[in-house]
Amino acid sequence: MKTKWLAVALAGCLAPLAVQAGEQGLDLARKSGCLACHSIDNKVVGPAWKDVAAHYRDNADARGLLIEKVKKGGKGNWTAVTGGVPMPPYSPRVADADIEVLVDFIMALE
Ligand code: HEC
Repeated sequence: MKTKWLAVALAGCLAPLAVQAGEQGLDLARKSGCLACHSIDNKVVGPAWKDVAAHYRDNADARGLLIEKVKKGGKGNWTAVTGGVPMPPYSPRVADADIEVLVDFIMALE
């Protein structure tokens, strides 16, 4: 019985945490200048981040791949959407730890 209440208590704590992580990710994206070219739902200059999340959902290598892409920039994965505009490199002007937070935030979008 105790376990059940513990589970209920935990669920109550974790839900706000998830919301907080989302706000933190969006805030970081704003501060890092990402939102000049991206939005969650729509293509701006770069692809909609929801589309990025959906595109890599079943790709086990996606996290590492996207971290590298944000660090080094590049083009070619979204040419049909962007017309071939490159994503600029963000390392070192955005810290590696922050880039990881951003990629985790993007990948968790649904
Ligand atoms: C100057 C415009 C611009 C800015 C600013 C920008 N992006 Fe991008 N982003 C792009 C474009 C264009 C692409 C598509 C690249 C391609 O075709 O491979 C892209 C692609 C991506 C992708 C998908 C990469 C892939 O290979 O599938 C991610 C993730 C991403 N951006 C994250 C970010 C983050 C995080 C930031 C801020 C730190 C950011 N972008 C800032 C233009 C931008």
